Amino acid sequence: MELIDGKAISAQIKQEIAQEVAQIVAAGGKRPHLAAILVGHDGGSETYVANKVKACEECGFTSTLIRYENNVTEDELLDTVRQLNADDDVDGFIVQLPLPPHISEQRVIETIDYRKDVDGFHPINVGRMSIGLPCYISATPNGILELLKRYNIDTRGKKCVVLGRSNIVGKPMAMLMMQKNYPGDATVTVCHSRSKDLVKECQEADIIIAAMGQPNFVRADMVKEGAVIIDVGTTRVPDATRKSGFKLTGDVKFDEVSPKCSYITPVPGGVGPMTIVSLMKNTLLAGKKAIYG
Ligand code: GUN
Repeated sequence: MELIDGKAISAQIKQEIAQEVAQIVAAGGKRPHLAAILVGHDGGSETYVANKVKACEECGFTSTLIRYENNVTEDELLDTVRQLNADDDVDGFIVQLPLPPHISEQRVIETIDYRKDVDGFHPINVGRMSIGLPCYISATPNGILELLKRYNIDTRGKKCVVLGRSNIVGKPMAMLMMQKNYPGDATVTVCHSRSKDLVKECQEADIIIAAMGQPNFVRADMVKEGAVIIDVGTTRVPDATRKSGFKLTGDVKFDEVSPKCSYITPVPGGVGPMTIVSLMKNTLLAGKKAIYG
């Protein structure tokens, strides 16, 4: 079994980005600028956004964090989105999800200028991704593709089971794994809470991408010998023995599954750091106006 070290690979990619940014700036070009909007004080979102800001520093980007309390109105938030759309200095921006229930996430996403949508959540980017056109690809699936590439993991003609059908991970992941290119060309099955033969599908899978947000869902008996396991889960499970009071827990029972795999991503240190670095790559593309001019 080989551990897929997302932390090490993400550090390497951040260095590559920082080098390119230094060259751009030395040649008189513009330093890429990412803005993030954070609403409320959800612990997970606070951590993710803080890590995104830190990654911007490491890459040599300018970053702006705009914060609102939970009682911000949808109109206020949409106004800020429109201001960022119009701000020529901001190359790309994100609105951290989830948003409070009184705000329509879909309305917010659709108000973002797709040319600045470095999260790749706007329907134009999702649509372009699904038919293989240049676009911003959402960060978690793109980070997983990068891991598969960097570890030379063969996906062509393989049976890939995606667990979960979220707009952020499951759906785009399935699309990308079936695309007519490496790392894709896989036969993809998407399983979810209503799937009847989920266990059987997993048992036949060469690659399992677990993204349903249920801690320890994938057990050893569900995994074929030699399978590749990508664990997207990051649930905060209460743990009184830790200073933080929780343990970040994946969707895979790592201890019992890992001896059966050829490759597996740990939690933390697997997919998580790659998600952030993929956002940095999209921000670099935005700074260079590489996709939409
Ligand atoms: N919430 C969970 N993942 C993400 C992400 O990739 N982007 C944003 N904006 N919110 C998220």
